[in-house]
Amino acid sequence: MESTAGRWLAPGRVNLIGEHTDYNDGFVLPMALPLGVTCTAGVRGDGMVRLRSRQRAAEPIETSTAALDVSGWSELPEWSHYALGVLREFTRRGYEVPGVELDLDGTVPIGAGLSSSAALSCSVAIALRDLFAPSLSAAEIIDIARTAENVYVGVPTGVLDQSAAILCTAGHVLFLDVRTGEHEQIPFDLERFGLELLVVDTGTPHRLVDGEYARRRTECATAAEELDVPFLRDVTSPDLVERLRDPVLRRRARHVVTENARVRTVAEQLRTGGDPRTIGPTLTAGHHSLRDDYEVSAPPLDTAVETATAAGAYGARMVGGGFGGSVIALVDRENTPNVIHAIRKTFHTNGFKPPRTFAVTPAAGAHRLRDHE
Ligand code: GLA
Repeated sequence: MESTAGRWLAPGRVNLIGEHTDYNDGFVLPMALPLGVTCTAGVRGDGMVRLRSRQRAAEPIETSTAALDVSGWSELPEWSHYALGVLREFTRRGYEVPGVELDLDGTVPIGAGLSSSAALSCSVAIALRDLFAPSLSAAEIIDIARTAENVYVGVPTGVLDQSAAILCTAGHVLFLDVRTGEHEQIPFDLERFGLELLVVDTGTPHRLVDGEYARRRTECATAAEELDVPFLRDVTSPDLVERLRDPVLRRRARHVVTENARVRTVAEQLRTGGDPRTIGPTLTAGHHSLRDDYEVSAPPLDTAVETATAAGAYGARMVGGGFGGSVIALVDRENTPNVIHAIRKTFHTNGFKPPRTFAVTPAAGAHRLRDHE
């Protein structure tokens, strides 16, 4: 590397509640994971971009900053589009990048619904900001990382993952109003109550690029139009949804409207500092809504949720876009081994892959690492 300027880290996330609400201008409540992507970056003066990922050691990318238009990208591996998309957005928005080396290394499991892609794009975005555009605001960074994914990878995501990676703080969940960008850090101290948030990665690949995610977005836009509101966020009562004649649109809209209400309920329960066990039933209700109304769950996710709650979890739900990926479960710390054992056993009986399980606490959002970190 010509000159190593530093290392930056952006985390993955789990969303406590508020799934498929972000692109409906609604509310979300994510927290950052103690897993992330680090970007070691150095400035070059020769107009070249060198990009490497420890996870894809055989695929180093070398291109020139001048050649950062999308023609020819189809030859490049998909993971590189996230980083090159961020770079391209910097130059397209007028920030000069004279050349750069980017070395990526990640601990967020890929395809687990824990936002490894936003961790990647956000780690690159904050490295480029600190090196070439220090005046960029958090909102612009989020927009750049989201645009990279929407335009250069071709997945029409909302801002949940990028906002979580940039705005979350240790020990808190982030209550974000996507419409206004207003956000609040709400303490989420499970240890004090003898609790743990268990992540169950079902190992069922979750892919948003396959079209179902985009279809849900279109269905929501159509439902909003038929209800004569700009976004489903503007539907304030679930009763209004019953006006939709198409039963599919009715179910989709019902999920979004009730999910926004669930985010506010959980935020309020946590804000008042009471026992987090009280949020459990709302988390599970959110899962049922994703399963029945939004139809984005999958058998291993449903099985993990049912088994966890039967084994004593206070609440459990799938996280992220769906169709695979991970489940979270709120459990008493001393009951965690029992819940894990029950899930492993049921997965085995059902012929599902052995799941990967780990407990998480809310970690810090994207930042530059100090030398010893
Ligand atoms: C994916 C997308 C997010 C959000 C979630 C569902 O993670 O990237 O923008 O829509 O799905 O809540």
